Amino acid sequence: MPSPLSDPSIVPDPYPVYTDLAQREPVHWSEGLNAWAVMKYADCAAALKDPRLKAERMEEVLDVKFPGQPLPPESIYHRFTKNVMMYTDPPRHDALRRSTQAGFTRAAHEHYSQVIERVATDLVASVPVRTKEIDAVSALAAELPVRSAVRAFGVPEEDLDFVIPCVDTLMTYWSGPQDQPVQLDRLLELLTDLHTYASELVEGKRGKVVPDTVIARLAAAQDHLTETTPEQTVHQLVLLFIALFAPTTPGSLSSGMLSFAHNPDQIARFLADSACVDNTANEVVRYNASNQFTWRVAKTDVEVAGVRIGAGQSVALFLGAANRDPGVFERPGAFDLDRSNSAKHLSFGLGLHSCLGRQIANLQLKWFFVALLARFPGIRLAGEPTWNPNLEFRSLQSLPLRLS
Ligand code: HEM
Repeated sequence: MPSPLSDPSIVPDPYPVYTDLAQREPVHWSEGLNAWAVMKYADCAAALKDPRLKAERMEEVLDVKFPGQPLPPESIYHRFTKNVMMYTDPPRHDALRRSTQAGFTRAAHEHYSQVIERVATDLVASVPVRTKEIDAVSALAAELPVRSAVRAFGVPEEDLDFVIPCVDTLMTYWSGPQDQPVQLDRLLELLTDLHTYASELVEGKRGKVVPDTVIARLAAAQDHLTETTPEQTVHQLVLLFIALFAPTTPGSLSSGMLSFAHNPDQIARFLADSACVDNTANEVVRYNASNQFTWRVAKTDVEVAGVRIGAGQSVALFLGAANRDPGVFERPGAFDLDRSNSAKHLSFGLGLHSCLGRQIANLQLKWFFVALLARFPGIRLAGEPTWNPNLEFRSLQSLPLRLS
């Protein structure tokens, strides 16, 4: 039987498929993904920490997406993917990650929290009075990450019209080995443009970066970096642009609204108990991971749950399935802000590669729901939500909400 995991019809509700696979075949070969799909929490968590499973994997992706079109080592593709934290392994990964520390200190996050609270409050306040219904994706979930990108990350507002379409097109490639609608030459051109932009930005030749933001802090710190090169700083910035405008944060904001709209009792819990407010981001991303799976490649032969994975084979770690593992989460299919272990979710990965933007994404989720549910405690579905046909980056395309 072909694997159901590459069937787009499962995107609106992949969980029954995951449950069935986790019971029958928890490590399962998926032809469509060209990878071993790992469904259980303990196996995903162990794999994320296993140094025999490499994060360096983009040569394999190129080969699957554009077979017979290898690129020379000096191509922007290889220079980028071999010099960003997401696709490298220690020791290079660790040096690259350390090079971005200045943007992600505790004090910096305290500042971003205040900025994001303001941004979220203003966004919710911008919904005109007497509005009865909105598409909560375009009006809210897509908008908050963009405003946060400007105010907390420092992407100049005047450059958004260039950066966002560029990342949208690049994301067609960054969604793993699926059909590729954009030609390789075009993708390389966009990757080059984004690099030129990032290097001009740190040189102060582009739009104005807001002070005290991630980019302002990274630009100020770059002259003191001893382990990495200026070119590597530009590569990390390009990675940040991609992560910032990827569908992950909008996907979590919109799936969270859907979860609340389906569960009015949880709105009541949110409004009644500050512990529930503090757990909201965790439970929203546990309940629906917006990055449903991530990838590794086996460096040597490895056994995962008794299944032999050959050297060079790809592994897709189903974070979204792990988050619903009944061995870890009681009543995993319930959206429950009182859950004591929501924070164990794997939606931001685990270990060395765990999400660098995790705290900022959590701040966006927290302040957004504080602002939204204070003004509209009676949100309900006003029609059928629609999902983008992409399981890997699972996000809503539209979410009709009735406001009250
Ligand atoms: C809800 C929103 C987000 C989700 C669900 C998410 C998810 C993830 C996941 C699952 C990983 C680990 C991938 C792996 O191990 O293969 C990751 C890594 C990463 N994320 Fe996020 N992310 C989100 C938002 C962001 C934002 C806003 C940024 C911007 C700073 C960001 C930057 C990164 C970076 C740079 C890494 C690579 C870290 C490393 O390899 O050391 N993410 N993210």
